[in-house]
Amino acid sequence: MKINLQECSGRHPAARPGSAPAVKNLNFEVALGEQVAVIGPSGAGKTTLLHLLACALQPTSGRVLLNGVSPWSVGKGELTQLRQSLFLAPQVPPLPPRQRVVTSVLAGQLPNMGLWRSLRSLFYPVDIPAAHAALLQFDLAEKIFERVDRLSGGERQRVGLARGAVSNASLFLIDEPLSALDPARADQAMVSITRMARERNSTLVATLHQVEMALKYFPRILGMREGELMFDLPAAEVTQDILTKLYDQHLDELTGPAPDLPPLDFKPAPVVMQCR
Ligand SMILES: Nc1ncnc2c1ncn2[C@@H]1O[C@H](COP(=O)(O)OP(=O)(O)OP(=O)(O)O)[C@@H](O)[C@H]1O
Ligand SMILES: [Mg+2]
Repeated sequence: MKINLQECSGRHPAARPGSAPAVKNLNFEVALGEQVAVIGPSGAGKTTLLHLLACALQPTSGRVLLNGVSPWSVGKGELTQLRQSLFLAPQVPPLPPRQRVVTSVLAGQLPNMGLWRSLRSLFYPVDIPAAHAALLQFDLAEKIFERVDRLSGGERQRVGLARGAVSNASLFLIDEPLSALDPARADQAMVSITRMARERNSTLVATLHQVEMALKYFPRILGMREGELMFDLPAAEVTQDILTKLYDQHLDELTGPAPDLPPLDFKPAPVVMQCR
């Protein structure tokens, strides 16, 4: 999927009316099949940007175009179709606690199923081999029949990512996929995420706190700060100097560990997603 942002601004749905937008006047394009990482200090607007791309948040001004179509100027049916062709993996995946891992993973296929098949798959997982193959990519195959509420935070995060591996999305939007993973698992997850997008010739936009992982796995880096795009560069041209300027007062985020996941009882703001 092709992305085109034109003077696009947006704010969190819970932000005070009249408050400054969390992302301001963004202009950039992402080509079909391209892989882009978004980095920047906490509060820079990375998640807000992903929600704008996911058609979960309407711009306060400017436009988001997906394959040349503005999601907010088409009919409900076309908007639903557009949403079905993208996969948003939030940092904390909204997994029903009592659900089995296999069912949670196969939920990634729901947008491409008819109503009856999707209802049936919620009770009788039909494509267990696909769920197994997806979980294998994230080193979680042995938990396939475990209940989601018996998994650790990092395991849940990997279930959320494995959903992407069974989906047919043409745009993958992945928010902080490594925040609960140890270094070896983080490397494996990055290999799997970039491969699943490449194999489908899908576009991938991921936000990352781990700058070194962004530079290692993504050819193009967007640096955001205070809602603005500070740079848009090939990874090879992102120097230490540029990173120091981007993180400025937040150098601890550049050098320190990624922030922890929110506590388990944390309730993220509602995000419109198609059963993913
Ligand atoms: N729940 C919320 N309620 C109100 N405003 C919010 C909320 N979440 C984010 N914002 C506003 O949007 C801004 C950008 O937040 P966003 O989550 O997009 O940043 P981020 O770059 O993803 O940060 P992080 O690296 O911590 O995930 C925040 O600085 C804040 O002003
Ligand atoms: Mg964020």
